[in-house]
Order: sequence, then structure tokens, then C-alpha cells
Amino acid sequence: MKEVAVLVGSGSIGQAIIRRVGAGKHVVLGDLKISAANDAAKILENAGFEVSTVEVDISSRDSILNLIEHAKSFGEIKNLVNAAGVSPSQAPIKKILQVDLYGTAVLLEEFGKIISGGGSGVIISSQSGHRLGALTEEQDFQLATTPTEELLNLKFLQEISDTLKAYQFSKRCNVLRVMFEATRWGKRGATINSISPGIIITPLANDELHGPRKDGYLKMIEASPAKRAGTPDEVGDLAEFLMSSRGKFISGADFLIDGGTTASYWFGDLQYLKKTH
Ligand SMILES: NC(=O)c1ccc[n+]([C@@H]2O[C@H](COP(=O)([O-])OP(=O)(O)OC[C@H]3O[C@@H](n4cnc5c(N)ncnc54)[C@H](O)[C@@H]3O)[C@@H](O)[C@H]2O)c1
Repeated sequence: MKEVAVLVGSGSIGQAIIRRVGAGKHVVLGDLKISAANDAAKILENAGFEVSTVEVDISSRDSILNLIEHAKSFGEIKNLVNAAGVSPSQAPIKKILQVDLYGTAVLLEEFGKIISGGGSGVIISSQSGHRLGALTEEQDFQLATTPTEELLNLKFLQEISDTLKAYQFSKRCNVLRVMFEATRWGKRGATINSISPGIIITPLANDELHGPRKDGYLKMIEASPAKRAGTPDEVGDLAEFLMSSRGKFISGADFLIDGGTTASYWFGDLQYLKKTH
């Protein structure tokens, strides 16, 4: 039996992370589109990784449990990377909340029951969650701790009327949920953190860069402190640190990696975006 590293969402960000933490382990690649997982598997196998693939829909608990059964058959689960998600241009409000908010919460809950001692996980959130103004202490508490099956019934989530807000609430919830779960994962000797990337060039970001909010995105990149978008490998490097032995004192934390865009959104040249975002 081997140590197992599980990646959900086999896109570019997920692949960059799993390449850095999967060597010598059995790597499970999950995705809603099995073709995406199989394509990623081909690349990884040709780079020396041992890989299997499984179709998974993180908005379904049964599907997540099936993924866990598959992963457990290869050994003890040491790592979870969640890089599955849908963006505001890709899906309607309900779908975004089901996948990005509820799905991530269930994933954290179910993997938190079986993650092995010394294990670690990373959830990919987004800078978008940092653009929502402060919520009340009660709303924070509810997003962090409400039982997963009741999460989508929260009144303030029912009142969301556009896809960007649905995405922002989902990503804020990811960060809060990671804090809550860190207290449970810690009891098993495991750490869990979130990473909130800015614009990273991937197929998902390319959809946004060619979607209805294209001009805004391009302007935002130009006016940001870094003056460029990020790459999946830069997110991979951060995740590798968090999931390594050097990251053992870090848990329940969120890391913005956005070239300074969020700082500029609140206090710099990008403040104009507050009117539209
Ligand atoms: N690319 C960016 O600029 C950026 C910025 C901030 C956050 N993110 C976040 O990073 C994560 C990964 O995005 P990416 O840019 O690599 O995109 P991507 O499109 O390359 O990968 C996302 C993958 O998730 C899969 N997926 C979608 N719904 C799923 C579901 N219900 N169950 C299982 N898999 C599902 C897709 O099939 C796809 O393979 C997402 O959560 C996204 O919100 C991306």
C-alpha cells in the first residue's frame, strides 16, 4: 500500500500542485469531466507519476464518498487538493453555490474524517472572496460552521441575485470553512489551508478574459501592482510549501496570491472596481 494524494479538479492549477506533492505516492485525479482527468493522467504518467482517474461531482456527497473509496483502495490518504470549481461566467447562481460553496464544504468534511496523521490539504479559493465587504460575525460563524446539508438554506445566500456575488460568497465560505475544518483536521494530526489566487492563466481564466467581463479583467491586470496575470506554477510553489514539512505550523490560514490586486482594489488604483464588483 502506498501513500495517496488526491486532486479534485484536474485543471491547470490542480496539476501544478499535484506535480509538486505527488511524487512517490499514488495520485488520484478526479474531475467532473473524466476526459480532463484522463488528459492530465497522460501528462503525469509520462512524467513518472503513478496515477488513476475517477469521475467525481463535488456537488454530490455520494460522488465524493465514491472518490474516497477509490482512493483508499491504494493506501492511506495523505493529501487533498481541491482545484475544482466553476466561475461566474461558466454557471448560473445555483450551480456556483452547489459546486463552489456546498461541494467544497462536503469535501472538507468527508476528507476530514479519513485524512491520515501528518497529512495536509489545500483548497483553491479566490481573490474574489476578498472583494466582499466584511460580513457580520454571525454570518461568518454561520458560513464556517453550519452543517453542510443546511448551508444552502442560509437566508443571506438565498438573497444572492448575480453570479459574481454567488462566486464571492462561495470563495469567502471556502476560507471560513477551512478555518473551521482546521480544528477537526488538527485532531487527526493534519493541516488544511486555502489559497486565494488572483487571475491565473488557465482555461477557466481564459473564459473570463473572453466573457462579458473581458474589458474589466484586462484593465484590472494592467493597473495591478504586478501588471500581469499569474501562472499555475506560482500557485503550485505556494501550495508545495504549505503541504510540506516546512508548513506544519500553518493550518486554517488563507493565502492571497494575486500580484497585489486585492491591495489595490481596496486602497490603490483599482478602487474604481468597487462600484462594479
Ligand atoms: N484561473 C484563475 O484565474 C483562478 C483565480 C482564482 C481562483 N481560481 C479557482 O481555481 C480553481 C481551479 O480553476 P482553474 O483555473 O484551474 O480552472 P480549470 O477550468 O482549468 O479547472 C477546473 C476543473 O474543475 C472541474 N469541475 C468543475 N465542476 C466540477 C465538479 N462539480 N466536480 C468536480 N470537478 C469539477 C472542471 O471540469 C475543470 O477540469 C477553481 O476553484 C477556481 O475558482 C481560478
